[in-house]
Amino acid sequence: MFKIAVLISGGGSNLQSIIDKINSKELDCEIEIVIADRDCYGLERASNFEIETLLLNRRELKKDLCAEIHKNLVDKNINLIILAGFLSILTKEFVEYWDKKIINVHPSLLPKFGGQGMHGMNVHNAVITAKEKISGCTVHFVDSGVDTGEIILQRTVDVLNDDTPEILQKRILVEEHKILPEAIEKIIKEF
Ligand code: GRF
Repeated sequence: MFKIAVLISGGGSNLQSIIDKINSKELDCEIEIVIADRDCYGLERASNFEIETLLLNRRELKKDLCAEIHKNLVDKNINLIILAGFLSILTKEFVEYWDKKIINVHPSLLPKFGGQGMHGMNVHNAVITAKEKISGCTVHFVDSGVDTGEIILQRTVDVLNDDTPEILQKRILVEEHKILPEAIEKIIKEF
């Protein structure tokens, strides 16, 4: 069985989209563990489906956060780590060890509107301020840069004249929930 770990920091709606696809048998893999770097609703979503969870305190662990995550993944023979709204930056050592085994979902059409500080509403604010007509989402492999790894899948979404960042975020999230499981499926097929 293809084994995945999901790293989260927030609501976990992308985690939910993976759980749903596994439960409906559209995705052939198993979530071995969900790890959060702060207390968040996503942990509850995992517990609801009896998935193992681990809450790590990023403030206490500081630069040891990645080592702690690694310790909890390495013995589980994890095939793929999914960053689903995970806000801590991974260390170079961690990313190099798990080369081509970490993917991230980002709410813009990378390389546009990515990089340090470009998360959550900052992304959608920037898209609207720049008067973009099209935005979207990207699933990409994680390398040692921020949002710079090889792109696996992207989906576009129209930016409408009267969009607020919140409305745009919702429209894009709907597409994230489709392309994240699709990207996982693609990787499983190529495995
Ligand atoms: C998503 O917009 C994702 O693109 C970004 O963080 C958000 C996470 O949302 N990386 P959720 O926690 O999956 O609901």
